[in-house]
Amino acid sequence: MVTLCEPENVHWCNGSKEEAIKLFCMMQASGMCIKLNEKTRPNSYLFRSDPRDVARVESKTYICSQNKDGAGPTNNWAEPRTMRRKLKKLFKGCMHGRTLYVIPFSMGPVGGPISKIGVELTDSPYVVVNMRIIARVGTPVLNALGEEGFFVPCLHSVGCPLEEGMEDKIWPCSPENTHIVHFPEERTIVSYGSGYGGNALLGKKCLALRIASTLARDEGWMAEHMLILGVEEPDGAKTYVTAAFPSACGKTNFAMLTPPKAMNGYTVSCVGDDIAWIKPGKDGRLYAINPEAGFFGVATGTSESTNPNAMASCANNTIFTNVALTDDGDVWWEGMSENTPAHLIDWQGNDWTPKSETPAAHPNSRFTAPASNCPVMDSDWEKPDGVPIRAMIFGGRRMNDIPLVTQAFNWSHGVYLGATIGSEQTAAAEGAIGAVRRDPMAMLPFCGYHMGDYFRHWIKMQRSLCETPLIFNVNWFRKDTDGSYMWPGFSENMRPLLWIVQRATGRAGAKESAIGWMPRHSDIDWRGLDIDKATFDQIMHFDRERILMQTLTHEELFLKLHSHLPKEMIFERELLISRL
Ligand code: GTP
Ligand code: SPV
Ligand code: MN
Repeated sequence: MVTLCEPENVHWCNGSKEEAIKLFCMMQASGMCIKLNEKTRPNSYLFRSDPRDVARVESKTYICSQNKDGAGPTNNWAEPRTMRRKLKKLFKGCMHGRTLYVIPFSMGPVGGPISKIGVELTDSPYVVVNMRIIARVGTPVLNALGEEGFFVPCLHSVGCPLEEGMEDKIWPCSPENTHIVHFPEERTIVSYGSGYGGNALLGKKCLALRIASTLARDEGWMAEHMLILGVEEPDGAKTYVTAAFPSACGKTNFAMLTPPKAMNGYTVSCVGDDIAWIKPGKDGRLYAINPEAGFFGVATGTSESTNPNAMASCANNTIFTNVALTDDGDVWWEGMSENTPAHLIDWQGNDWTPKSETPAAHPNSRFTAPASNCPVMDSDWEKPDGVPIRAMIFGGRRMNDIPLVTQAFNWSHGVYLGATIGSEQTAAAEGAIGAVRRDPMAMLPFCGYHMGDYFRHWIKMQRSLCETPLIFNVNWFRKDTDGSYMWPGFSENMRPLLWIVQRATGRAGAKESAIGWMPRHSDIDWRGLDIDKATFDQIMHFDRERILMQTLTHEELFLKLHSHLPKEMIFERELLISRL
């Protein structure tokens, strides 16, 4: 790769604190980042990206399987040899004037039985300091890998060679040439042109979801876009659940939920906020680990009232990207506080006042924070064998039709629920904000192979288990005719969560409906929240005709996948229509 990319230097990352400090000093000196106020935000930095490089670029993300069918109709496919040739041209000399950093990293605890190792080569020091937070990196990983170990090779460049006499940009990138490419058969990743988030931190979406989902299919486990949390009840009983919501639909919030004061004695602990690797244990139950070591969380909307634990997580040792800078050297974003500061520097580096017409922080601005900063990390969050999963939750951002919470009748009905979730588009990806798109299991942008085969893998997983988790569907985002949210959300999500936990452990009541089991008003703990039966009925209401019409849009997805679609999906759809 050195021969191909022609970097000026090569640096092997050992993962130490000293190494990170050196890199931050270098980036500060070059103007790539700003050190924040050491008193209010210790050891934290602000980066501003190029405005053309602010989110994942799904249109330039490729799955290069040997056959087009391997990637399926929901992924961009490119012929692997043609793509390799194209990439070779792009990478030729692309690191001129830059340092190539070698980052050995482990997704999951180093040496753990579910963990996987990757090695990312990158010319971005921003990537190095971020990977250091979201993954375990450096010498301990190389030692665990040894001479013969398996690793996923990952190559990344911002795509801006620095020729003699050229001045570097604050955020080098090459949006015209961006390619985020996966070779699932070779288990390799090549990314060019973008320095942002999932495009560049290759351990996250590229390895831990796209490549890992293909490894998981081949090896009999699951790599999912899911948070993992634990609920402890007053008697000490602990139940773990996972939840899949599409990007920017509330995983980080739910993963660190603070139960309402009136429900004292109940606590929620966080195992992970974005990705779960789930494997059958010897006892025939599913166990999950969080392959990450930190959060790459959405900043906008995060506040002491909506998510105090996320606020604590980014209180120090944090990297902020595309948030606003306050006059005293701290950060701010829309929704962080009730009072908007009178003056800020916005995410593009311009003066900003409350009268400005553009937001101060980018809607997809993010914080990269170590999980160890989070006050509610579960005591077993780094347990190499994972935590036992009793329930799996699917959800999305839906203004209409979808009730607050329902329980699937069984595993294959649950897979159908997951396969047919949809969400109104957010800022975490390009596209028209607000339009509903089908996002099966919240994996549409992250499944490394044919989505029909992925559904089949879900169906098949049940056969290797003695006890399957129960599956649920939730929607925090329903709106009334005035356009206000019908459900208060955030902390109050503890109430449906507790019902889920009690269902999964055989303790809560429910009534049967055409779309699944539902809590009655009396099945939910309402201490400290005034939601009467009539209001609850509205939040739980579904219109038979409208749900019937929605099965047509399910069919649209199923038709695309039909040659690989497991029969169970067709039967579940027929059953749903019959029940309706
Ligand atoms: P990725 O990191 O992109 O995978 O996203 P995420 O699913 O972790 O999203 P996150 O938790 O950061 O939530 C993003 C947005 O959802 C924020 O603007 C939150 O304010 C909003 N949100 C989260 N939970 C709730 C809720 O219960 N109700 C409402 N109305 N909004 C919520
Ligand atoms: C997502 O979009 O689901 C994220 C952010 O978690 S990124 O890592 O950029 O993909
Ligand atoms: Mn995500």
